[in-house]
Amino acid sequence: MGTNRRTVFVLATLAFMGAPAVAAEVSAKRGAQVAVTSGCHDCHTANYLETGGTLDPALALKGTVLGWQGPWGTTYAANLRLVAREKGSEDAFLAYARTFQARPPMPFFNVHAMDESDLRSLYLYIVSLGEAGDPAPEYVPPGEEPKTPYIVVAPPTMPKG
Ligand code: HEC
Repeated sequence: MGTNRRTVFVLATLAFMGAPAVAAEVSAKRGAQVAVTSGCHDCHTANYLETGGTLDPALALKGTVLGWQGPWGTTYAANLRLVAREKGSEDAFLAYARTFQARPPMPFFNVHAMDESDLRSLYLYIVSLGEAGDPAPEYVPPGEEPKTPYIVVAPPTMPKG
């Protein structure tokens, strides 16, 4: 388990189809790609969206102080470096990632649906990112005014007629 690069063989493929085993790589490098293609940086990395996907390694997945406000209150994309360290191991992170719930606009159901090798790789990537930094601001319940800038996620405006 202690290596950075491993291979998970999908034996089911072999058993059912008689095809060669599919090798799913587990590595921090792959985790870096998963974080991009699954959109985690979009919300969890400051300045990423605004700069057209320029990733500042010092800010990667550290969460942001920009709130998302809606009927659920105001939420902040969490510091995933802290979350990964709190879980303490790849297996604990995997179990958590499969089951956690979060308020909007966090698409937690997308994380539940990720492949095991995606999630293990994501963990290796996150813990490779260096110092964990500070937590994102605390969740603010509905009706209370946040102390940070925030985006209002308003109900859709429907065309008349
Ligand atoms: C649209 C914005 C958005 C995207 C995209 C997004 N997140 Fe989040 N995420 C959030 C917000 C906001 C919260 C805080 C929700 C809350 O307070 O309940 C959050 C919370 C979380 C948490 C819970 C942290 C805790 O405190 O336990 C995890 C884990 C997480 N996100 C992982 C991910 C991963 C992995 C991806 C990429 C697959 C991702 N997020 C993509 C906005 C986003």
